[in-house]
Amino acid sequence: MLRTHTCGELRKEHVGTEVTLCGWVENKRDHGGAVFIDLRDRYGLTQVVIGPPEADQAQIDVAGHVSAESVILVRGKVADRLEGKTNDKLDTGAIEVRCPQLEILNACQTPPFTPGQTDLPGEDLRLKYRFLDLRRPEMLRGMVLRSKIVKTMRDYFAEHDFIDVETPILGRSTPEGARDYLVPSRVHPGSFYALPQSPQLYKQILMVAGFDRYVQVAKCFRDEDLRADRQPEFTQLDLEMSFVDADDIMGLIDGLVARTAKEILGKEISLPLPRMTYDEAMRRYGHDAPDLRFGMEIVDVTAVAKKTEFRVFRATADAGNFVRGLRAVGAAEKYSRRQIDELTEFVKEFGAKGLAWFRVEEDGSLWSPVAKNFDAEHLAEIKALMDGQPGDLLMFLADSWEVTCKGLNALRKRLGAELELYSSDQLNCSWITEFPMFEQDEETGRWNAMHHPFTAPLASDLDQLDSDPRACRAQAYDLVINGSEAGGGTIRIHDQQTQSKVFELLGIDEATAEDRFGFLLNALRYGAPPHGGIALGIDRWVMLIAGLENIREVIAFPKTQKASDLMTAAPGQVDADQLTELHLRTLAKKSE
Ligand code: AMO
Ligand code: AMP
Repeated sequence: MLRTHTCGELRKEHVGTEVTLCGWVENKRDHGGAVFIDLRDRYGLTQVVIGPPEADQAQIDVAGHVSAESVILVRGKVADRLEGKTNDKLDTGAIEVRCPQLEILNACQTPPFTPGQTDLPGEDLRLKYRFLDLRRPEMLRGMVLRSKIVKTMRDYFAEHDFIDVETPILGRSTPEGARDYLVPSRVHPGSFYALPQSPQLYKQILMVAGFDRYVQVAKCFRDEDLRADRQPEFTQLDLEMSFVDADDIMGLIDGLVARTAKEILGKEISLPLPRMTYDEAMRRYGHDAPDLRFGMEIVDVTAVAKKTEFRVFRATADAGNFVRGLRAVGAAEKYSRRQIDELTEFVKEFGAKGLAWFRVEEDGSLWSPVAKNFDAEHLAEIKALMDGQPGDLLMFLADSWEVTCKGLNALRKRLGAELELYSSDQLNCSWITEFPMFEQDEETGRWNAMHHPFTAPLASDLDQLDSDPRACRAQAYDLVINGSEAGGGTIRIHDQQTQSKVFELLGIDEATAEDRFGFLLNALRYGAPPHGGIALGIDRWVMLIAGLENIREVIAFPKTQKASDLMTAAPGQVDADQLTELHLRTLAKKSE
């Protein structure tokens, strides 16, 4: 090693020791005659002093010209800091290295920003100069956390007899419902590999192969619209097991959640994690990944609404639709009329036509711009249903089930954050189960698989595959952490007849099924055990455990919202020769 110690290592007991340190110049202060450098590496910061009597003028001059973020090597002796100059905030704050010798290993050009600066530059600049950004302790902390979480996962599954198997990146299209990333084949003109949206089909085949327990830290690729918690290329902790039911998988993951919380955060989580069906989640929270760090449940007041003279409520209820609302505890004072108008505009983004609201007055009566449309008796009923107390705001949407779910979920999340109903260090984990097998495309009327087409229906709902696909529920389970989908899986279909029936419902004819998933269907004819599994979104786990809201903060080299890598400038153009070799011609104009 070039160095004897790291920059985070030296303490009082090292005073008098000759040391060699290497690192980056975080900060340099020239105190007329002596130069002070804060030397940084992954482990910490150490103050280095180049001054008399140890250093001569030539050395002091060299030090005076070192630029920020240069990499240097210093040799010298550890000394006590002068009285009053110690720094309690720094692990190495009691000492300094008095240094006669400094060697510049690599000088740094003027950087566009420095890791030590408090005002962060825009994200584009951080992504372009990711090597500088990753020098920031916050980024390092995120990456170390990620590494620990993955280690905890690997250890846990190794202890439970899982075999780590790698599956191909170049393969056939997999059915997770997003657009594929395609790779043209040079050898087979006009043919393409698809990058895996997940290792779904391979892991099922491994069960047919008798591996019993498979696990992999797997890269997945999905060409879909990106959001704060979505990347086109992301990582799953992917697993599959044979001879299990949904309870077994959830129980196993419960153990992992508790272990991770304990080892990483020092938190005790009581098991089993709470479970809620999809129907219940939609009824109480309007969403299949509800944030359960706070209450504020949706209340249905359709029955009262039907009796009132308020046209909006009554017409909605008469049409078989719903009037549902939220009680924002103590919010009347916090939201002015103008702010409530803003909330009204906000829910309209989710398809709502308006927001009807009531304030619970000191005397317990309800005040509202639309109150004149209500009898006192009906107002009292609404207040009782909502458990309204003085100072509360009661807000309602009158609409279809879907719109009330969407609008109230968005409103609930916004109010939860604005009213500070939870703290960012809370970790709330739960399961949502019994998802519908299918969802219907509003425009085409076609059925789509809600999870993927290999998901098994609940045994009790098998008949409904024929009679009422809408009511058919799946053996599916999602892990939700703080209102984010942190994992999802299902028990699979393991017989060919049920699989064919599901394909038929999904409008996938026999020829297409054979062409796309023939290898899986074939495997199902050769002794397939009952099996099921789950995939956990590792990037999301790290983001949630770190208490962050942007997935890019926990990925070393993430893509932007437009799926570009600003550091390498990917995707990039290629030579005409390369295209020819791949039997391709592009329709896009070459950008300048
Ligand atoms: P699913 O599609 O639900 O299931 O994905 C599993 C988990 O992966 C994470 N995830 C993502 N994370 C970041 N960026 C994305 N674009 C992204 N998409 C998904 C989520 C999600 O819960 N093969 C099935 C699993 C199975 O059935 O066993 C699958 O991939 O946290
Ligand atoms: P209008 O009668 O359309 O002027 O609406 C009167 C009040 O009811 C306004 O405050 C609207 O925001 C609200 N409102 C209108 N439509 C709905 C609806 N579908 N659900 C809830 N409130 C509504």
